[in-house]
Amino acid sequence: MEDTLVFAVNGDRIELSSVDPSTTLLHVNGCSITTTEGLGNMKDGFHSIHQRFAGFHASQCGFCTPGMCVSLFSALVNSDKTHRTEPAFGSSKLTVLEAEKSISGNLCRCTGYRPIADVFKSFAADVDMEDLGINSFWNKETKLHKLPFYDSKQISTYPEFLRNERESTTVLNYQNKCWYSPLSVEELGSLLESISAENGMMVKLVAGNTGTRYYKETEYYNKYIDLRFIPELSTIKKAGSQIEIGATVSISKLILALKEERNDDLISEGDIVFKKIASHLEKIASEAIRNVASIGGNLVMAQRKNFPSDIATVLLAVKSKVTILTGVNKEILTLEGFLEKPALNSRNVLLSVFIPCLKPTKNDCSENIKTKLLFETYRASPRPLGNALAYLNAALLAEICHVDNGVVINCIQLAFGSFGAKHAIRAGTVENYLVGKKLSVDLIYEAVKLLRVAISPENGTSHPAYRSSLAVSFLFDFLLPIVDADDFIHKSTCNNPGIGSGLTIDDCERTALLSSAKQVIESSHEHYPVGQPIIKSGAAIQASGEAVFVDDIPSPLNCLRGAFIYSIKPLARVKNIKLKSEKDVNSVVTFHDIPKGGENVGAINRFGQEPLFSNELTQCAGQRIAFVVAETQKNADMAADTAMVDYYIEDLEPPILTVEQAVEKSSFFEVPSFLYPSQVGDFSKGMAESDHQIHCEEIKLPSQYYFYMETQTALAVPDEDNCMVVYSSSQVPEFAHVVISRCLNIPEHNVRVITRRVGGGFGGKSIKAMPVATACALAAYKLRRPVRTYVNRKTDMIMAGGRHPMKINYTVGFKSNGKITALHLDILINAGMSPDVSPIIPWNMIGSFKKYNFGAFSFDFKLCKTNHSSKSAMRAPGEVQGSFIAEVVIEHIATYLSLDVGFVREMNFHNFDSLKLFYGNSAGEPLEYTLPTIWDKLMKSSNFDHRDGSVVVEVGGIELGQGLWTKVRVIQADTLSMVQGGFTAGSTTSEASCEAVRLCCNVLVERLVSLKEKIEGAFVQGIGFFMLEEYLTNSDGLVVADGTWTYKIPTIDTIPKQPNVQILNSGHHKNRVLSSKASGEPPLLLAASVHCATRAAIKEARNQLYSWKGLNGSDSFFQLDVPATMPVVKTLCGLDNVEFYLQSLLSS
Ligand SMILES: Cc1cc2nc3c(=O)[nH]c(=O)nc-3n(C[C@H](O)[C@H](O)[C@H](O)COP(=O)(O)OP(=O)(O)OC[C@H]3O[C@@H](n4cnc5c(N)ncnc54)[C@H](O)[C@@H]3O)c2cc1C
Ligand code: FES
Repeated sequence: MEDTLVFAVNGDRIELSSVDPSTTLLHVNGCSITTTEGLGNMKDGFHSIHQRFAGFHASQCGFCTPGMCVSLFSALVNSDKTHRTEPAFGSSKLTVLEAEKSISGNLCRCTGYRPIADVFKSFAADVDMEDLGINSFWNKETKLHKLPFYDSKQISTYPEFLRNERESTTVLNYQNKCWYSPLSVEELGSLLESISAENGMMVKLVAGNTGTRYYKETEYYNKYIDLRFIPELSTIKKAGSQIEIGATVSISKLILALKEERNDDLISEGDIVFKKIASHLEKIASEAIRNVASIGGNLVMAQRKNFPSDIATVLLAVKSKVTILTGVNKEILTLEGFLEKPALNSRNVLLSVFIPCLKPTKNDCSENIKTKLLFETYRASPRPLGNALAYLNAALLAEICHVDNGVVINCIQLAFGSFGAKHAIRAGTVENYLVGKKLSVDLIYEAVKLLRVAISPENGTSHPAYRSSLAVSFLFDFLLPIVDADDFIHKSTCNNPGIGSGLTIDDCERTALLSSAKQVIESSHEHYPVGQPIIKSGAAIQASGEAVFVDDIPSPLNCLRGAFIYSIKPLARVKNIKLKSEKDVNSVVTFHDIPKGGENVGAINRFGQEPLFSNELTQCAGQRIAFVVAETQKNADMAADTAMVDYYIEDLEPPILTVEQAVEKSSFFEVPSFLYPSQVGDFSKGMAESDHQIHCEEIKLPSQYYFYMETQTALAVPDEDNCMVVYSSSQVPEFAHVVISRCLNIPEHNVRVITRRVGGGFGGKSIKAMPVATACALAAYKLRRPVRTYVNRKTDMIMAGGRHPMKINYTVGFKSNGKITALHLDILINAGMSPDVSPIIPWNMIGSFKKYNFGAFSFDFKLCKTNHSSKSAMRAPGEVQGSFIAEVVIEHIATYLSLDVGFVREMNFHNFDSLKLFYGNSAGEPLEYTLPTIWDKLMKSSNFDHRDGSVVVEVGGIELGQGLWTKVRVIQADTLSMVQGGFTAGSTTSEASCEAVRLCCNVLVERLVSLKEKIEGAFVQGIGFFMLEEYLTNSDGLVVADGTWTYKIPTIDTIPKQPNVQILNSGHHKNRVLSSKASGEPPLLLAASVHCATRAAIKEARNQLYSWKGLNGSDSFFQLDVPATMPVVKTLCGLDNVEFYLQSLLSS
């Protein structure tokens, strides 16, 4: 039967009869879609969600905002479906915790999430308004809690006309492709049989289709079979002692079913197991994914492609079973058997999963037989909630009973997954060893040893030792409390089984992600409204999705799409480029296509230029070789992605891939003398005055990717009379203008570059946006058709360059009281293949490094030219590294002398004389030196000296009750360094533009943003640099952390729980424009404090480990890598700390 695709968008019926299943989401058949424009808009009035986003200053670049608005709407709609008591008029049933959790997984690179969380929480029924941050709805003086009104009935999400659409099987045909939606298992079976009879058919079963986010489609299918409309596959049935879950049931629906409250007075242990499983499932992906992702799809991905599934692990521990359909035959298998089978083919269908309702074999209170189930699940991942696969997950189930003086394990199931094995496994050797034995420290010690052997990641898995140590920590955490608490079993009654050894369910579910934080901005009314939190103009249209980014501009007629082919070799001759997929490809543009008289130039700046494409010789992995132009972006991307390039390296020198190799070959870029910072004092003399010296200590700092939400994008439209109009998402459109004219050899006045809005830049759209605009212009010029591109995230990450990696060696002399007398730095900066803006880095680094009085201070910089992509300016370029190195030196001295690190900091603060010596005229006036004031204020406001401070460092390890989560008392403050520049970058443009506007018309009301979320946004980006973001490359320098799966920026669950922001009223800084502050770069530098705090925590853990090993004294100084990721931290704390702890218990 032929049919049409019918769905609704914002209540309007849409009917399509000819659509390509490989490019269109046929999933939407029968669905109603509500977009943020459908909630409200300029014309009909904004929705309260939009108004609150604007009023809480929760939209900056605005690129993430529509998605955030829809997530919030979805959370509100879902909460409305619950049976909770009706909310007050204008309120909702949403809870604060749900509000926060519904943000997790959504990415925002600008705001730092807290203002977004404020918007979400402002709709929650249980919110305390006082907890919400700065906004434009009320202030300190006006305590009126007046939020834009929310009407839960305002939007109808499912129009009546769709209800009767799906009465019969749908078949959609497009050219040779078909999309089927069978309505019964029988129909599905015969469909599969009939397809099997056809030769060479590529068939794809589809449920939620989220799998394509992980496994990119590189093939074209002939037949798609949508499983979601088969009732047997989409229901959950309770059948006797188990529940049967249809394979297409979404993860969200299963969570709800598992959490369902039973009405009996007694909560059974089986119910608690279900709830714990539900709790674990809530950590999978994000709510939006869980709402569509199916259980079956997950298990099939785990079975067929070794996907690191959480569901497989958790269900394995509770002995689940599955039913599969092969042709018309059904078969029931244990989950273990299913996972171990050869990979399913596309004709096998997973129909359902059975989860048993567990109960202890004997649990009769009246007879006082103490048998008990214990169940816990564990998961260590870079983010606790938001879209991060686990390094390792585990689900541990045991039945124990109390015997004389102890506890015996009746049976035990230990499932571990996601650690680099083919699929989740049961640790059989450990289970067999433990069963029937009485629990003791000794027993756990032996079990732990066996587990280390059992959890053995396959070759090529990252951090293998870390992963096995996690397994050990989890088993230890599960078993030890039972040994320790002799009355463990006595404590639990039949009414309150208190299953598990860790948190109770309620604890897990009630812990809010964020606490209320303080933002204090001391503003004066002198220049009213400057300094007031005024709503950013355009914020509401950003929220309603009406703000136009480059890719929102409708494509002109005949518009083509382009995608880059980049080199995967650092230094090689390109002989040939062959396309594997030529579907709809129009042209492959290379440097040969540059018109006569034009230059192969892709970017310029005052220090040099970079070619648009490599010529025969590529200079780095990631360099642009060609631009494939096709009719659709998908076909262009596919053609570029699968292109085969022949590289030749004969007769070529080996590439320069490290700074050391660059030094060996004297491969450097010049730093102009006017940008080379000045040394201070006489280093040798300073060293001679010192009591102690540290020589040649090394620090390595890595790169960081911008992660603007909107990747590089441009649209070039040829115009009459040899003109070119280019829409570019660029921070420096005027430079792009020059580059395009030089490349095409047309006069500059024939080129128009238009930038209306940029979806995040952070420096990455200064130089790096130019080649993207130029490639589109060149292709459009060649083909005389409009050409646009939206660079996919992978290509963007590979070509971007990012922050400068560097190697630093420091030599420092100091007195016994911690006062530094002399310091020397040798700094090797990896600048990549072209100078870009790298010559400014030394100046910026030293500017922030000199925040302490180092006595005599000398340095040597080398700007290394290497075969890497050119590194460019990224938020606080050089400054973040300079400021961090200064802290490392201070920390090192404090450890060396066993002094408090805060004391050493204070000891080396500048006085105004030394400040003048180090900074010359930029030191300003004595009154303007605010660091000591800020320090004192912080000491007082945080009650630093008396504080039992707490920074919880989650390392995926376990609090052994001794110090992995340690009291940390490090707070750092920096001076601000202000550099003026001509780019929209470096947090200086607002200041510079403000001055221009002030001079022009003395009115400054536009472009004033609230400082709070800027500050927090930059701080969070800094946390990303210091703690999370690993911009990894392979040995050829090709970026391999090339997507959100491997590159983790902070999400709401990894930001500070309570960041208190206070801005010093610096009214006396008369030389600054209306006392403005640079709000982007300085807070980013402050994020080094999180790294310092982590170091302090690790120090405690290492000291503890030292004592378990029976050693005296404390551990010496260690370098903590940037980023200090979980494996890095756990490795420094001791991957074998569990064993040492157990040994210490055994020997005491
Ligand atoms: C951003 C993101 C984060 C994620 N994080 C996690 C995580 O932390 N932990 C975790 O466990 N999972 C995670 N996942 C995986 C997610 O759970 C799976 O993508 C999802 O469950 C797959 O279900 P689906 O309905 O979308 O499957 P689809 O994408 O529709 O299908 C996936 C594959 O299974 C096949 N298939 C689907 N259903 C059946 C069936 N009934 N019988 C036979 N074959 C079938 C399809 O042909 C396809 O090959 C994440 C996914 C995303 C996108
Ligand atoms: S406002 Fe969220 S990414 Fe820019």
